[in-house]
Amino acid sequence: MTIPTGKILACVNGVIGPAENATVSVLDRGHVFGDGIYEVVRVDKGRLHGIDRHWRRLDRSLRALQIANLDLDLLRSQLDATLKASGHTDAMVYLQVTRGTAPRAHAFPSDTPPNTLILVQHFGDDKAHLRQTGAGVITHPDLRWARCDIKSINLLGSVLAAEAAKRAGCVEAVLIKEDGVVTECAHSSLFAVVDGIIRTHPLDPRILPGITREIVLQIAADMAIPCRQKALRSEELGSVAELFLTSTTAKVLPLVTLDGKPVGDGKPGPITCKLRDGFEAWERADRLKTPSVAGLNSGEL
Ligand code: PDD
Repeated sequence: MTIPTGKILACVNGVIGPAENATVSVLDRGHVFGDGIYEVVRVDKGRLHGIDRHWRRLDRSLRALQIANLDLDLLRSQLDATLKASGHTDAMVYLQVTRGTAPRAHAFPSDTPPNTLILVQHFGDDKAHLRQTGAGVITHPDLRWARCDIKSINLLGSVLAAEAAKRAGCVEAVLIKEDGVVTECAHSSLFAVVDGIIRTHPLDPRILPGITREIVLQIAADMAIPCRQKALRSEELGSVAELFLTSTTAKVLPLVTLDGKPVGDGKPGPITCKLRDGFEAWERADRLKTPSVAGLNSGEL
């Protein structure tokens, strides 16, 4: 079976069915408190892209929030079963774990099992053309909390920034802290090129440890492109030579306008293009090494 494009398949605590019929309790702590974590994983020609890295980050987020008693092997088999049931060989997967269902009280409930949610939908790669032409971004205050390294489902700061970007006709918002530090984007990691050197915020609680970020830093090192993990300041943004973002769904996306003004010469920069193409090559090589999910073989490599 392949579910139609545009339809979403859900797996709630192990029960698979159409997302429009799936329900969770109103007392789910994710619903009431945003007390949960998530991952977004891409399925690339039947293979779960970077799944080991996503799984490590999921585990790290769970530990950070002290959500215990989750059988990660069971979750993994439910993920494979949901993917198989969807039939999609190119898919976007949303995985969510909340602290479970309990009467509303802020402190943790005792002996409540976590609730899990897996959503699978076709991945149409709608940013493919923008990876060639480049895209626009705006700047926006970083209103998020002090533990952005945890992939928490509390996303209001990101939601407001993403909406501002959308209204400005842009793909993303570059987030700036009150002290002038540029952190990352609403739902992607941010990189600049300054004096031939790649610059990105260091890993600390102000940013998410992006998986695409990690891979791109490795590719840059392999290409001997110098890199400094040192945050940019807002006043530096206007004079960077190149700007790009990375994420599971956008891959390496050149940014050519910032608040309506051109970045560099207004075209995707040479280092950005090298990394964009290097990432695609890395993905192809990774596909050859990664077995496809059982029952999900597109026949393509
Ligand atoms: N966003 N920074 C933030 C704040 C993010 O939310 C994301 C991912 C990233 C990129 O991480 P990765 O390379 O691991 O996808 C950086 C996902 C895709 C989302 O929320 O939909």
